[in-house]
Amino acid sequence: MKDFPKTSPDAPIVILTGAGISKESGLATFRGEGGLWQGVSIEQVASPDAFKENPKLVHSFYNKRKEGLLSKDISPNDAHLALARLERDWLDDVTIITQNVDNLHERAGSENLIHMHGELLKARCVSCDEIFQWQDAMDEGSICPHCAELGSMRVDVVWFGEMPLYMAEIEKLLMECGLFISIGTSGNVYPAAGFVDMVTHYNRAKTVELNIEPSLNADQFSNGYYGPATKIVPDFVDKLLGT
Ligand code: APR
Repeated sequence: MKDFPKTSPDAPIVILTGAGISKESGLATFRGEGGLWQGVSIEQVASPDAFKENPKLVHSFYNKRKEGLLSKDISPNDAHLALARLERDWLDDVTIITQNVDNLHERAGSENLIHMHGELLKARCVSCDEIFQWQDAMDEGSICPHCAELGSMRVDVVWFGEMPLYMAEIEKLLMECGLFISIGTSGNVYPAAGFVDMVTHYNRAKTVELNIEPSLNADQFSNGYYGPATKIVPDFVDKLLGT
């Protein structure tokens, strides 16, 4: 890994993660070979209209993903663990903004974490808006534990056409960070794909991309390091911490 321009250890770091960081844990990414969006129509499983038209199909898609995430073979990898170490040892704040709906960052020990696209292991009632931890499979017969409505429970992930969560908090973090790192995301989905532009133009902080290959907006980052996340993320964290 080439030398990285020194970043002050008392500047906050903001990290955006995408499906690529969880790939080597055994979870599929969305795009490309073997991706979740291959062979499945996004409109049929990941939109509020899809849920209205065919809740059975939508539940079944997310139940399968949930089952996969809960399988004993899936655990955080060295990239998730390295980011938790960075949060522990960096002098200033380290915040992860993840597009991932898995729970591998928290299982690795990261605490300062924002799930901007929601969480697979949570459910929301479309009738009363209450949110619950929900590990079991869901179906049209699921009942809201709060308002007792039948068939109103949905997985608490952000679908196409819906607003990502915590945007005001995220914008503030992007404006105030000293370093922005984007890991394992293809740069296809906004607003996350636009974060590097915001940091560059409004804050002028350093920006780094870590990915197995250059993303769609790779040329917007001041530095890019390419290889599997389990190798390049721990290496990059070592460099930042001087270990
Ligand atoms: N190490 C590092 N990066 C990797 C690895 C790996 N082992 N394997 C794949 N990648 C990279 C790919 O090169 C790609 O840039 O991870 C990225 C995965 O891209 P996507 O599948 O598009 O996932 P993501 O960017 O997280 O998608 C964003 O789209 O539909 C949605 O809501 C969903 O949150 C998701 C959003």
